[in-house]
Amino acid sequence: MCGIFAYLNYLTPKTRREVLELLINGLKRLEYRGYDSAGVALDSADGKDIAVVKKSGKVQALQDEINSLEKVLDVDQEVLCHVGISHTRWATHGVPSAVNAHPQRSDAKHGFVVVHNGIITNYKDIKVFLQGKGYCFESETDTEVIAKFVDHLHNQHPTYSFRELVEQVIEQLEGAFALCFKSKYFPGQCVAARRGSPLLVGIKAKTKLATDHIPILYSKEAGNEDAEASTLQDHRPQGRDPLPTMHRSASTAEFQPIEDKEVEYFFASDASAVIEHTNRVIFLEDDDVAAVKEGTLSIHRLKRSLDDPHLREITTLKMEIQQIMKGNFSSFMQKEIFEQPESVVNTMRGRLNFQSKTVTLGGIKDYIPEIKRCRRLMLIGCGTSYHSAVATRQLLEELTELPVMVELASDFLDRNTPIFRDDVCFFISQSGETADTLMALRYCKQRGALIVGITNTVGSSICRESHCGVHINAGPEIGVASTKAYTSQFISMVMFALVMSEDRISLKSRRHEIIEGLCQLGDQIKEVLKLDEAVKELAEDLFQNKSLLIMGRGYNFATCMEGALKVKELTYMHSEGIMAGELKHGPLALVDKAMPIIMIVTRDPVYVKCMNALQQVTAREGRPIVICEKGDEETKQFASRVLEVPHTVDCLQGILTVIPMQLLSYHIAVLRGCNVDCPRNLAKSVTVE
Ligand code: M6R
Repeated sequence: MCGIFAYLNYLTPKTRREVLELLINGLKRLEYRGYDSAGVALDSADGKDIAVVKKSGKVQALQDEINSLEKVLDVDQEVLCHVGISHTRWATHGVPSAVNAHPQRSDAKHGFVVVHNGIITNYKDIKVFLQGKGYCFESETDTEVIAKFVDHLHNQHPTYSFRELVEQVIEQLEGAFALCFKSKYFPGQCVAARRGSPLLVGIKAKTKLATDHIPILYSKEAGNEDAEASTLQDHRPQGRDPLPTMHRSASTAEFQPIEDKEVEYFFASDASAVIEHTNRVIFLEDDDVAAVKEGTLSIHRLKRSLDDPHLREITTLKMEIQQIMKGNFSSFMQKEIFEQPESVVNTMRGRLNFQSKTVTLGGIKDYIPEIKRCRRLMLIGCGTSYHSAVATRQLLEELTELPVMVELASDFLDRNTPIFRDDVCFFISQSGETADTLMALRYCKQRGALIVGITNTVGSSICRESHCGVHINAGPEIGVASTKAYTSQFISMVMFALVMSEDRISLKSRRHEIIEGLCQLGDQIKEVLKLDEAVKELAEDLFQNKSLLIMGRGYNFATCMEGALKVKELTYMHSEGIMAGELKHGPLALVDKAMPIIMIVTRDPVYVKCMNALQQVTAREGRPIVICEKGDEETKQFASRVLEVPHTVDCLQGILTVIPMQLLSYHIAVLRGCNVDCPRNLAKSVTVE
């Protein structure tokens, strides 16, 4: 998805080359999210205009373009106070092209330029309105209306501050957005706002910050909505829906949360873009408007709501820059696969006591009595996160004795699924920003269900909007293909099942064998990773095929679906995860000696049934590659090739069987010349529905 990075230096001298390097580097940190064009805006060399450089394709292409413009951009000139904004775009409205790339501008003279993540759903109404006022549009984007709308308001109300203009514009916008503005009329100022798309402000000050909180300034008090309202009815776009009345800010207070002579601010859609500069950040909330003027940051909201904390906390990020560097690995995905022996341990750290065989999940412990009284558990997610729900459903049913429904967030919403106050709904999401999952969360919250977030991203929307939750603590996952997040989500759900069953005497020995299994997991994953060379050889045999079927059942069915998803998204090869119990109801027709098939057969309660399926496949001249437990000679007899993984308790076996599939998809992708970290058409964080 799109990425925003903006940089403001106040009384901190930088050459224009340094500013550009900061912007380009910020965009490179966001590349993993997936994009198809990029752009930057900074002051023009003579300071009278704004220079915008945009390019279709990779950030490297943008950098090359900037290098070719060094003279025009006067890159050696020093700037003391300056704002630069930049963006990577993932096309939604209009093809990937330089003109559709961001920043989008208000006019040829660059009165206002803006970068935008998300989608404006009422952009057509606003466009018609602005066209009526004489504005001509050059791009196919929804974003361009924002730049032109703010310009229109500025023409109508030249006394309004930059922040007030933005506030008024966002009040008219429908849909989701994170925005960052720069203006020729307000040099050295930057205004940012969000609703539905993540945005944070990083602060780097020479001296220690005087505060850990930034109070919010309100333009309207609750219950006094009309105070100082200056109605701008005549500016309203004529659309289907009446637009709300706009109000001039009532706030005149000058608040200086950051009193520092030399300060730098970073606005970004993702913490990984700012972490090398500062670990002090503020995660903006929906409808926040953050403005920097004369080096002073202030956060405004149009309206005070009753449950608002009236403060935005300055958070210290724990993330290290090394965590978002590739190190010796050829791709982030490969690095993340090989991090799993540590990431699974990090998920359990401080929660699972292997001596006392107890589990404490601090983020939900106060809610456990309520969860125990619920009518059913709903596990909701998309893609890999959904698969982690499928993988752990059976254990949850066993240890909680509650009905457990697993749902794809998009389908769940399409069906207007009935939800009750005594439902407990889990929202599983690595990024914590997936639009479908977030919408499903809000849907359930409105209906009074208890909301539990299972995310990897501190400060994400799902995190903030949940009643309680578990951080999976897998560390930053940069590769678009989710790997270590899956195994950590899996373990988080297993730990939850253990918590739910802690007082059940009849389940004591089952719980103990699972805890024992979790204790061994780090070392066992290391063992599985030793298969890398064998998996690579297998990939060499498979990479030219058109299709790959992956079959299994019971605890391993999730591995089949997850393995097939990895193969599809990384290698663009057709792949299908098949429930082995369904073989004779259709898929068996696909089987012959040419069809590549992987079967997962482990010594769990469905072993005999899996062996039946294996024999059904070999009887049709199928030549299955089998993933089985180490030393299982009986199973190996039916295999054309074998990948052996260590034995663990049945409900955890899926963690060990999925890793060869992650490795296989990685190696096939490399052999097919695919971009492992940024597969075509995909994004890391899917913030559009
Ligand atoms: O951030 P989330 O876990 O909510 O993302 C959900 C899916 O978009 C994601 O898991 C996707 O399927 C992965 N690219 C698969 O590798």
